[in-house]
Amino acid sequence: MDSLSISMVQPVQVVYSEHLAQSLVSICDREGYSRVLVVTDSVIHSLAPVQEAIAALEQTGRQIAVFDSIHADPHIATVDDGAARYREHQADCILAIGGGSVLDVARGIAIVATHGGSIADYVELSGSNGQPKRRATQRCQGLISVPTTSGTGSELSNALIVTDEHGNKLAVLADNATSTYAVLDPTLTLNLPQRMTIATGLDAFCHAAEGYLSALANPITDAIDEKVMFLLYNYLPRAVADGNDLEARRRVMIAASLAGWSLNQAGTIVGHSIAHVLGAQHHIVHGEAVGYALPAVVEFVADVREHKVREIGKILGAQIPDHAPLDQVRAIVVRAILEFRDSMLGLHPFEDYGISHETLVSYAPAVVNERFAGNTPKPIDTADAAWLLERFGSRK
Ligand SMILES: NC(=O)c1ccc[n+]([C@@H]2O[C@H](COP(=O)([O-])OP(=O)(O)OC[C@H]3O[C@@H](n4cnc5c(N)ncnc54)[C@H](O)[C@@H]3O)[C@@H](O)[C@H]2O)c1
Ligand SMILES: [Fe+2]
Repeated sequence: MDSLSISMVQPVQVVYSEHLAQSLVSICDREGYSRVLVVTDSVIHSLAPVQEAIAALEQTGRQIAVFDSIHADPHIATVDDGAARYREHQADCILAIGGGSVLDVARGIAIVATHGGSIADYVELSGSNGQPKRRATQRCQGLISVPTTSGTGSELSNALIVTDEHGNKLAVLADNATSTYAVLDPTLTLNLPQRMTIATGLDAFCHAAEGYLSALANPITDAIDEKVMFLLYNYLPRAVADGNDLEARRRVMIAASLAGWSLNQAGTIVGHSIAHVLGAQHHIVHGEAVGYALPAVVEFVADVREHKVREIGKILGAQIPDHAPLDQVRAIVVRAILEFRDSMLGLHPFEDYGISHETLVSYAPAVVNERFAGNTPKPIDTADAAWLLERFGSRK
């Protein structure tokens, strides 16, 4: 057997709490944070537990500034504006409360505030375009990430996604910019609307499934990803059916965060490339986009990852005969994914977006050149990407 060597670092202190204000005050006390920049969006800012947390920090004499002008699929300029706000406030702590868009912006602010320039300087370039202009060489300090969606895993991940002036979604990968703390409080997700519960849960599921199939996967990420898919298969439908099911919300939030950790090693594959390209151009909700992409991605890689595709099927409750040929395995597992996505969760049909397949297929070259396509466990050319895009959102 080949010898194997794996190094997995998880530098984020993970705090699980159902008392957000109390936990934030105790973290700030312990670390001596006194000037806090709250990074959030206007919806989250108005939620009662968030208002309570800000009030509790103010009552302990801390200086609070709020940067809440963040929208979905955040732009480079938003990160740079936030970094300016951080400097102006002379902050020593960023408290990020929100979904992946907010948490990504906050980590971008931490990079720019620590290292200077614009977040555009840190973007990973694909193919032969070379290295980013700058890299985050020092550990960014004082970032507390509080997710309000259970999806991106951004609170544990080293990746952030920003949109440029042409509508391209670009990745920044910075091990030095992971959060100092992640505070997981699933009570924040009790009011997450059903459509966002489905989308963000599918995002987490696709992180685990794509990471599991990735060329960069290792036995430790495999163990995490198997458990993440198991938890989401068993608890996400409950969270969708009853948003107030706290036990389901707990399990789903923990699964999404663990997938964020695994992502740092295994990465995602071409399903996320498709979501990044289409998401930026057509504003397809990120978690829905990866969900629409997944069945064909699994079908595409099944010849080089047959055992893992079978395992995904088993986690999704499929019965696969021991000696089933590859074509049968593929068909059974794709059907199990569709059953989970469309029947158990109830993702709305892609046709609702009104985007023609002709338009979709025109993005094939962009998909091939996207940063994460290279993690796919077999070579992928424009014809392959067109094949995947033709099947994007198919319900059979
Ligand atoms: N860093 C990573 O590794 C990583 C991974 C996957 C995706 N992403 C990025 O994350 C972004 C998507 O993040 P997201 O899916 O968490 O959504 P989001 O942060 O874009 O939020 C979507 C909407 O949900 C609302 N919302 C969030 N929490 C809520 C709550 N508890 N109650 C009510 N409304 C709530 C927000 O106000 C917003 O309007 C995309 O930009 C994507 O590219 C990053
Ligand atoms: Fe994602």
